[in-house]
Amino acid sequence: MNTAAETAKHYLVDGVNSPIRTGASGDGEMLFIQSGSGSKVTALDGTVYVDYVLAYGPLLLGHAHPAVVSAVTQQVQLGTVFGACSVLEAEFAKRIQSVYPTMQTMRFVNSGAEATLNAMRLARGITGRSKIIQFRGCYHGHITPGADTDRLLCDYNDSASVQALMESESIAGIIVEPVCGNMGVIAPEPGFLTTLRSLTSASGSLLIFDEVMTGFRSALGGAQSLYTIQPDITCLAKVVGGGLPCAVVGGRTEYMHYFSPKGSVYQAGTFSGNPLCMAAGIAAIDTIIQTQASERAAATATTLAAELRACSARYATPVSVAQVGSMLSVFFSDKCPKSFADVQQSQTALFPSYYAAMKAAGVLIPPSPFEAYFVSSVHDASDVAAMVRGLDEFLATQ
Ligand SMILES: Cc1ncc(COP(=O)(O)O)c(C=O)c1O
Repeated sequence: MNTAAETAKHYLVDGVNSPIRTGASGDGEMLFIQSGSGSKVTALDGTVYVDYVLAYGPLLLGHAHPAVVSAVTQQVQLGTVFGACSVLEAEFAKRIQSVYPTMQTMRFVNSGAEATLNAMRLARGITGRSKIIQFRGCYHGHITPGADTDRLLCDYNDSASVQALMESESIAGIIVEPVCGNMGVIAPEPGFLTTLRSLTSASGSLLIFDEVMTGFRSALGGAQSLYTIQPDITCLAKVVGGGLPCAVVGGRTEYMHYFSPKGSVYQAGTFSGNPLCMAAGIAAIDTIIQTQASERAAATATTLAAELRACSARYATPVSVAQVGSMLSVFFSDKCPKSFADVQQSQTALFPSYYAAMKAAGVLIPPSPFEAYFVSSVHDASDVAAMVRGLDEFLATQ
């Protein structure tokens, strides 16, 4: 164990502030990064890696994008938090609404978990019902055991099981990752999201799209624009904050007004809508729109997926590559999984040596077989080639 890891383990729970950072599902090493620029990060030991983790999604523009750095540098000198309103909040909301028109009214919070938790509380407050349908393999942030008892689980892409549950239970809402990223990338089957929309509309319950990961990544306007479905409530985080901690819940105005102070669902936050995150978010969204960053990152991811498939076709080890927009996953299975049960059938035992081969090739992927890889608008052909080389070198040893 290196000195930095030893010191961290002395003071922090298992040395980390978020479980995946122990590296336990990868090579068991805690990875310390000293800096990031564009598509690369530099580790504490000076090794430079092509980064396909991108902080688990936020960095659609890559590390330390000049527009975001400049906006944050200017704002930090003016103050970072006031506990009062700033004009930046509505400025930011206006930009978000221009690409997410279903978010008629919004509330800023600080993390994806906070956004989804509040969206579910809102659904309960509006409907007076307690049960929320979720899907096995989707992740919406950590929840309390109390909330767990009100959670009913269905299989992703299994419309019939949702229909059966809706007929037998009184449901406040359905929350779904419209493209799943938390068991690896799994696209919705044709008709799945439409069924969720019609079932919730028919039963007076809310459809919540957790676009924390898919926002600006499935497409600029998220999975809701890609699949043309209008959810009642949308949660955005990750990309929306431009690399700073920011999230937003938004949806139909008559629903959003159930939040305090207008409504009875109490919701507040010291750092919510703070000017530093608003400034970073505005700079990021403006840059994303102006430079067509979502489209460019998706085009690179499409090329990467095609080249990974072509590489794996030369070997006997079964490999499937799932890609939607700028999110991508490599599964050791014949075909792309459609549910968590399918994911569990893939050969996850291969993952540690695959992860190590990628790292040896100078490529960072998330240290877990169940995480999506993220591509930025500044990843280029040499970054694509590096990952293909990593896969090639791994498969050659199998
Ligand atoms: C789909 C989804 N929802 C919610 C969350 C929680 O977001 P945060 O880590 O910002 O709390 C995540 C985190 O990865 C996520 O992927």
